[in-house]
Amino acid sequence: MSDKFHKVTFVPLGVTVETPDGMSVLEACLQNDIDLEHACGGFCACTTCHVIVKCGTDDELSEMQFDEEDKLDTCEGVTLHSRLGCQSRIHGDVTIEIPPKPY
Ligand code: FES
Repeated sequence: MSDKFHKVTFVPLGVTVETPDGMSVLEACLQNDIDLEHACGGFCACTTCHVIVKCGTDDELSEMQFDEEDKLDTCEGVTLHSRLGCQSRIHGDVTIEIPPKPY
């Protein structure tokens, strides 16, 4: 991680936090008491940490790897801008939606 910080806004909560470069979306949530499920503990083995990138380009988050893409394919409510919170590392200012859970 570098010493750069980024602003991450979570919707619909309307909460903005500052995170160090390279922190995952899940880590940012855990550190700021933002509720994001993570049934597998952040090992890309579930889809409970599904989030949707509302604002920000591909450069703002780490590139999606095959494992994440594969897992997202099994996720209900997946969109073109879906990511797994535990696999997405923050490299710029972004707005992230935490979608309602389908249960
Ligand atoms: S916490 Fe399970 S895939 Fe992210």
